[in-house]
Amino acid sequence: MTTATTAASPVDAGRIDAHLAAFAALTEPGGPGCTRLAYSPLERDAHAVFAAHMAGLGLTVSTDHAGNTVAELPPDQAASGPGGLPAVGTGSHLDTVPQGGGFDGIVGVVAAMEVAEIMVRQAVPHRRPWRFVAFAAEEGARFGQACNGSRMAAGLTRAADLAGLTDRDGVTMAAAMAAVGLRPDLVDGSRWRPDDWFAFVELHIEQGEVLRSQGLPLGVVDVISGSTRLRVRVEGRATHSGGTPMHLRRDALVTASECVLLGDRLARDPAHRGVRVTVGRLGVEPGSITTVPGAVEFTVDVRDVDSVRQRDTARALARDFESLARARGVELVTEVMADTSPVILPGWVAAESRAACTELGLPYRVLPSGASHDVQQIGHVIAAGLLFVPSRDGLSHVPDEFTPTDQITPGVHALLETLRRLDGTTR
Ligand code: GLV
Ligand code: MN
Ligand code: MN
Repeated sequence: MTTATTAASPVDAGRIDAHLAAFAALTEPGGPGCTRLAYSPLERDAHAVFAAHMAGLGLTVSTDHAGNTVAELPPDQAASGPGGLPAVGTGSHLDTVPQGGGFDGIVGVVAAMEVAEIMVRQAVPHRRPWRFVAFAAEEGARFGQACNGSRMAAGLTRAADLAGLTDRDGVTMAAAMAAVGLRPDLVDGSRWRPDDWFAFVELHIEQGEVLRSQGLPLGVVDVISGSTRLRVRVEGRATHSGGTPMHLRRDALVTASECVLLGDRLARDPAHRGVRVTVGRLGVEPGSITTVPGAVEFTVDVRDVDSVRQRDTARALARDFESLARARGVELVTEVMADTSPVILPGWVAAESRAACTELGLPYRVLPSGASHDVQQIGHVIAAGLLFVPSRDGLSHVPDEFTPTDQITPGVHALLETLRRLDGTTR
């Protein structure tokens, strides 16, 4: 990693550590790792920590009906001129998957807190409003659909959709939002106005191995994978495990297992190269040692940077699952829980990040993102960019997810300089 040619950094590692520790403490008890689910009271507590820090810096803080928290630093009067300029912004999310880590999303929010602090403490000149955002409910682990707060900001998820998204306990997203004091009925009023924004750049951990394996401190993302999520229910017949001979069984788990293996095989097939297929949740009913499984419900997450291959793979899976079920004499129903397209990020925003890295003496590479991100959604309405810092061992969505602070600070510095460049740019 770079040393000698790297520019002196205003980023304070101690403050980064303190913010990360404050968020890590907000977790369901018991562990392992960090559990702070989308639209849970703990997620709102984390937003309150973010809001208090930003208010303490003198920024104007507000929370929209989707639960996104936005802090605004006004432009320097002298520089902004009459009429005002559209804003630059940065941020990420504060929710986690069940038993996740303390870095996915959180690093981007902590970066926003640190950039805001540097801007205020050092009175860094700027001519645009700077907005710092903690998006709500980015993880799709609870409701199937990912990036919920940013989708509502982009107008991609509407108030009418919120009763149709449910968690595994049958709680609708609308009910979960209302339970933490939000107004799901009003989210359509929380859409961002494209003319109010110039550009938005998110800093995130890579959640993969590319930067670590190449010894690079920074990644500049060009394209973000899409994902199609399926919920599959297999209905067979629950019977006695001793009394029912093999030829009379309709075992739902046997068919579900064949479906899991089929998904893995299909994703490894050269015709589908690049697609990733994951069965991450599978529930067996009645779940008794001595009963043949009567029903199984499982999810499939299909991800790709190629939208045609993503959807073709999901369709092929649904079709082949049906054939497997027919051959075993069980019922099978596949439903699409969520479907998000890959997004190509605009080259001119990435060019400012690349220039910032070069100026700071930070080696980088351009790479795609396998994971979903809030900029993928707001990128539908405003210009957006994404920077990566390395992930230890490429791990994410697990308790061992980790990026040392000395690998976060270069990312925050590159983010600050990207935003400063965008602040000075006119298009
Ligand atoms: C968000 O982290 C995702 O699942 O990609
Ligand atoms: Mn994330
Ligand atoms: Mn995540």
